[in-house]
Amino acid sequence: MADDDHIEALLARLSRTQKLALVRGAADPEGTATGYLPGVEAAGIPPFRLVDGPLGIRAEGQRATAFPASIATAATFDTDLARRQGAAMGREATALGQDALLAPGVNIIRVPQCGRNFEYLSEDPVHAGAVGAGLVDGIQSADVVATVKHFVANNQETHRTTVSAEVDERTLRELYLPPFRAAVDAGVGSVMTAYNRVNGTHMSDHERLVGDVLKGEWEFDGYVVSDWYGLESTVGAANAGMDVEMPGVAAPGAADAADSDTADDGEDFEWPDGIPDATHAGLFGDPLADAIDSGEVPAARLDDMVRRVLGQIDRFGRLDGDQTAVEDGESDDQAGELDSQRHRDIAADVAARGTVLLDNDGVLPLADGADVAVIGPNIDEPKLGGGGSSETTPVHSVTPVEGIESRAEGAVTTAFGVPQIESVSLFDLLPFVGEDDEADGSAEDTTRREPSLDDAVDAAAAADVAVVFVRDATTEARDRNTLALPGRQDELVSAVAAVNENTVVVVRSGGPVELPWREDVAAVLEQWYPGQADGDAAAAVLYGDRDPSGRLPVTFAPQSEYPTVGAERRYPGVDDEVYYDEGVFVGYRHFDDADTDPTYPFGHGHSYATFEYGDAETTGDQTVAVPVENVADRPGREVVQAYVRPPSVAGVDRPQRELAGFEAVQLDAGERRTVELALDDLAFSRYGPDAGWTVDTGAYTVEIGRSSRDIRTTASVDR
Ligand code: BGC
Repeated sequence: MADDDHIEALLARLSRTQKLALVRGAADPEGTATGYLPGVEAAGIPPFRLVDGPLGIRAEGQRATAFPASIATAATFDTDLARRQGAAMGREATALGQDALLAPGVNIIRVPQCGRNFEYLSEDPVHAGAVGAGLVDGIQSADVVATVKHFVANNQETHRTTVSAEVDERTLRELYLPPFRAAVDAGVGSVMTAYNRVNGTHMSDHERLVGDVLKGEWEFDGYVVSDWYGLESTVGAANAGMDVEMPGVAAPGAADAADSDTADDGEDFEWPDGIPDATHAGLFGDPLADAIDSGEVPAARLDDMVRRVLGQIDRFGRLDGDQTAVEDGESDDQAGELDSQRHRDIAADVAARGTVLLDNDGVLPLADGADVAVIGPNIDEPKLGGGGSSETTPVHSVTPVEGIESRAEGAVTTAFGVPQIESVSLFDLLPFVGEDDEADGSAEDTTRREPSLDDAVDAAAAADVAVVFVRDATTEARDRNTLALPGRQDELVSAVAAVNENTVVVVRSGGPVELPWREDVAAVLEQWYPGQADGDAAAAVLYGDRDPSGRLPVTFAPQSEYPTVGAERRYPGVDDEVYYDEGVFVGYRHFDDADTDPTYPFGHGHSYATFEYGDAETTGDQTVAVPVENVADRPGREVVQAYVRPPSVAGVDRPQRELAGFEAVQLDAGERRTVELALDDLAFSRYGPDAGWTVDTGAYTVEIGRSSRDIRTTASVDR
């Protein structure tokens, strides 16, 4: 905790103008930060820089390690690895002169085609909470403030700046709030509010959720920052508990773009859907001073805002002026570290470990000497991430072809097959960003040779194995309108599979996608967006140098089977209201309740090893233990999962099972180990609007297994 006396003494010396400069963003003179507070030089308060997040550092004009998409980190089910990734991102932020990272994003994956699922972690709150807390802990271990976002119910990009999530209290408490609570419990320094409304009230005006729940019940003592241009009001926001307005100043060129467009046709300018009004800034400037003068906002509220900001600046040593940017590659926690070998290794570790082996008829791992045809429209590009504020530009990256060529001992041939899938980006939707400023990689490469399906089929027919790389294209500010792969990729996979029975498909997607040919191919890997290590991570898993130990953090099913599909009011909403009618029955909770078989269930993922489970035992109030043995002749990594089934209570509709804990364990060939699992309270509790949290008395079955649909043993816990 911050040195309270020191902060109070500092606060007492600040004029009101100086205080106001600590709660409203300004333009960064160095131009690297996403958000900037100028500090108060006369009082020894240094400038403070906030930067995106969450797939690495997006400092303007700078390169940094491009980590895999957050959903890949989550798929590792490895909270320690999440922590190491967080620490690496924290060190890179410091090296680039930044003080706070705008990460992690922990919104529950509700809508399968949401454009930002790749930035989020899970459809399950215990899982999202545990991985998110690991990231927070890691970032802050490097003395950088973590910012958990977007609080709360920002579960779609369509109409994200206006839509109201109509969601009942139980559902908020049991599903959407817990990952934020876990971040607060992990000591997160900052919370970013969402653009959307919840039950009619804009999140930056939401006194009950921001003031009462986050700051009151959860005792969050850091600062609450708006999303960019996401502050709705001055008085409402200040009194609700908002502490910092970002970016605080209009985007350069935004007003001109809006004006000139208005001048063209005389109509009011409309910002594209999903893009906030980038002229909407300065609400915590003079208007806040006026509101304090008029008594609408208590002066004590401004002090509280400043106290919270200073508390975090002080907590991470920044009031002492000891944070300095350094040369690339140096390793020193005070000075940061950028694009070092250990950061490259962590990015590669997450990419490989987060890879999910969805299906395998035995073709994988590949024989070292196999002749391989590498096929796909984007095999010459790494899949770094999705579009938007998380786009990171790496120093070094490996394409799928490069990764396989450097690992293969047999012949490697290549073919694109079908036209390239173009990336999509929020930045292409901004009316005030010039063409020169567009994000790297979004423009079509006109120097590529023409793709030919026949060439791909010929290459596949002549090789021992055909490896087809396919991808989707997603971005912040836009949802996809389908779960089908874009372009002619399904046609390509089917054509290749028809001539080579050893066809392996490597999918790169931001969330669930439909794989209609999956029964016609020999193996399917899900790699999410693997980041800069792309081709190396793919090769490491394909050849068995690494066990594909990722597990699905989100259910894969045909689009029509998700609970948000079919009724417009559930998604994308009617008259700017989206009704969470499915309540807590999201993800596997829905598929269990509907009693349908998804394509691949939550928690699913094969290993190259084979694991046998012994009998589970209850070892305490809150713990179970299970012996797990690797009976294969190769090492492997198992993710042991525990789900709780509640006793039935008349009149209470609960999910059949809820994830209560998980533990990843690396086992050598023949090794047997007893794995102890801690069970989260959340899986035992239910929330009622009147009674609050209740744990029903009775016997709870703890199901332990390889996925939510592959239970190997059970234990019983009484409450
Ligand atoms: C996004 C945030 C991001 C911010 C700053 C917003 O559009 O929703 O996640 O941190 O921009 O780039």
